[in-house]
This record gives sequence, C-alpha cells and structure tokens, in this order.
Amino acid sequence: MRKLLILVLTVGLIGIMSLPGCKPDPSVELKVPDTSRNISFSIPAGWPQPNYTFSGNPLTQSGFELGRKLFYDTRLSRDNTISCASCHQQFAAFAHLDHPVSHGINNLLGRRNTPVIFNAAWLTSFFWDGGVNNIENQPINPIQNPVEMDMTIPEVITKLSADNTYKSMFNSAFGSDTINSQRIFKALAQFMASMVSDNSRYDKYIRGESGGTLTQQELHGLSLFREKCTACHTEPLFTDNSFRNNGLALDPTLNDSGRIHITNDPADRYKFKVPSLRNIALSEPYMHDGRFTTLDGVLEHYRSGIYQWPNVDTLVKNGISMSDQDKDDIISFLKTLSDETFTHDARFSEPK
Ligand code: HEC
Ligand code: HEC
Repeated sequence: MRKLLILVLTVGLIGIMSLPGCKPDPSVELKVPDTSRNISFSIPAGWPQPNYTFSGNPLTQSGFELGRKLFYDTRLSRDNTISCASCHQQFAAFAHLDHPVSHGINNLLGRRNTPVIFNAAWLTSFFWDGGVNNIENQPINPIQNPVEMDMTIPEVITKLSADNTYKSMFNSAFGSDTINSQRIFKALAQFMASMVSDNSRYDKYIRGESGGTLTQQELHGLSLFREKCTACHTEPLFTDNSFRNNGLALDPTLNDSGRIHITNDPADRYKFKVPSLRNIALSEPYMHDGRFTTLDGVLEHYRSGIYQWPNVDTLVKNGISMSDQDKDDIISFLKTLSDETFTHDARFSEPK
C-alpha cells in the first residue's frame, strides 16, 4: 500500500509548478481521461504521509484546472454572487479575513468562522466538528447550505452544462463531457488537496535555507511554543488532527456544541478540531466562531480566560502560564509561520 502510494505520488511528471498559463485546448477531443498530463503532488521533506492520496481521483493538470475554475465560479450559488473563494480568500490563506462567522448568499450569516484551506491532504476530517471525513464529500455542504450558496446539485449541473468551456474541461479531465456531482467534487478535491503551504520563514529555518533566519525573540517564542502548545498544535502541520475543549466559554447566541453534534458522545461536548497555526497571522479572526480578533487575545485566553468545563483539556485547564514577554515572544514566533509564497501562488489564484 505504502509503495503504491509513493508510486502514485512520484509518478507525476513535472510537478504542479508548470501549471499557470497552461489552458486546456478546447479543440482537443479526448475519449479517455487525460492521464498523460498527470501532475505530481510532493510531500515536503520530513512531513508525514498525507491522508488523502488521490486514489480513485488521479491528479491531472486538467482536473486541477477544472477544480480551480469551479472554486472561483459564482455560478455555484443561486444568485451567482458567491463562489467558494468569496469566503475562502487566497490572501487570507483561504480563510475569510475580518469575518467572525461566514457570510453567504443575500448577506446571510452562518454560525462558524471560515477555516483556512491548505495542507488539506493531511487532514483526517473537515469542519470545526469533523462532520465530514473525506475531502471529496465536502463541497456538497456549502453548495446546499441555505446561508452559503443555497443551490441543489441538479441546478448546479444544469447551469454548468450550458457552458461549452465547462464541457470541454470535463472532457479533458474525465474523458467525456458528462457533468455530474462526482466529477465536480473530484475536481474540487484535486484543486484543494494540491494546496500545500510549506514555505514560511519557519520552514526555511527548519530546512536550514537562506531566508530562514529567526531572531532571538522568535527563537525564544519557538521554544516556548514547543513547551506549551505543541501537544495539540503539533509540528510540522501544527495540528494533531484531534478534537479538544480548549476552554472557550459558550457564546449563548450561537450555542455551538461542537463535536458532540456529530458523535452524540457527551464527552465531546464543546470540543472542536485543533486548527493548524500555519499562516495564522494572515487569517484572523480566530476560533470556531471568530471571537478573537488578535493573537494577543488568543494568548490572553490561554493565560487567564479558560472556562472550567468538566471536559476542558487537562493541558489548558489551569491556564498556560506566560509572562507578558513570553506572550510577545510566542506571537513573534507565530508570525514566522506566514507563507506568502503560498498566498501569492498564481496556481491557486482566480483563473484569468
Ligand atoms: C458562505 C461562506 C462559505 C462558502 C461560500 C464556502 N465555504 Fe467552505 N467553509 C465555510 C465555513 C464557515 C466552514 C466551516 C464549517 C463548519 O465547521 O461547520 C467551511 C469549511 C470548508 C472546508 C473545511 C476546512 C477544514 O479545515 O475543516 C473546506 C475544504 C471548504 N470549506 C471548501 C469549500 C468549497 C470547495 C466551497 C465551494 C463549493 C466552499 N467551501 C464554500 C464557509 C464557506
Ligand atoms: C489542549 C490542546 C491545545 C493547546 C495546548 C493549545 N491549543 Fe490552541 N487551539 C486548540 C483548539 C481545540 C483550538 C480551536 C478551538 C475552537 O475554535 O473552538 C485552538 C485554537 C487556537 C488558535 C486559533 C486558530 C484559528 O485558526 O482560529 C490559536 C491562534 C491557537 N490555538 C494558539 C495556541 C497557542 C499559541 C498555544 C500555546 C500557548 C495553544 N494554542 C495551545 C487546542 C489547543
């Protein structure tokens, strides 16, 4: 199995690096999926094997480009105003900057903060409560959610089928111009699972590369981080993919019970997925409901704001002790996790 995985992941040709500018040629009529244009997904050195391996959904340039077009297409929403990218903005590491909870069609508000999208291939579950466990099943939720895009899948298919560019792109990606939900989801999965963020200053520091110098303050922040935060926000992905209660008091308006909503297990009440902290300085506000607008607010929560739920995690139960200086040092370290190469990567931008 592992051998096969390595093969699948390395067989790809030149790497996604060559994507921009390569538009599918509408004049090409393909009868089979265009596997000759497979592209590679590379696992950064020292990272674990990803959870999503593109098995049953081979990564191709055409599939990736189709996924990208769908991601940026407002026609996926009822009134053609909202695309996936309306809420998942590249410059915010695909979170929604400044929006505590999501903002969908007709300005309707959702109940949760829009999470970042990157390194999604390593996630073992999606959503704050882990309600979806496969990236290929995920997009049905925002598309059908009445406060996000408010569409049905048949309506999306009807809209896309009226567009010859789409027909030709589905043909290139999947070998015929049939547009169905499975293909839409697979293409979106190819696009999203290809998003890898591994080029922050911290990464360069770990790899010993030029541009990877951390200041004394940042280094001190890193060692404090490893002492106080790593148990949950585990390197290199800065999450251990677990669900925890990190001591946030309940917002009575939202009344979000978290993981218990999925498992029905009282032990999971008010537990939420540990989010990655990569690109954290670019993706405020913070937590599942966006309650903190600054990193200082987050650290103050861990220091002095822990709510004593019966199942609050023992690692944070007594608060995390930090001097003001420690707090500043941890924040300065967190800022080294910003990866502008990723947030400016043209491969993931709106197609021209
Ligand atoms: C109206 C804003 C909005 C739109 C539009 C939207 N999303 Fe999201 N997205 C969210 C919110 C909010 C969540 C978290 C939901 C939850 O935890 O219950 C989320 C979660 C996700 C996740 C899971 C991330 C994680 O780490 O758990 C992915 C992947 C994702 N969205 C992709 C998409 C795709 C693909 C589309 C378009 C088909 C889309 N989103 C449209 C707001 C939006
Ligand atoms: C017990 C596990 C645990 C520990 C220890 C922990 N965190 Fe968290 N952290 C979480 C969970 C769970 C969330 C999401 C909670 C939510 O939104 O309901 C979170 C959220 C965050 C967020 C917001 C991320 C976002 O995208 O909104 C930041 C920033 C953060 N933690 C930083 C830290 C720092 C810095 C430390 C160490 C001082 C730390 N955490 C220690 C579990 C932990």
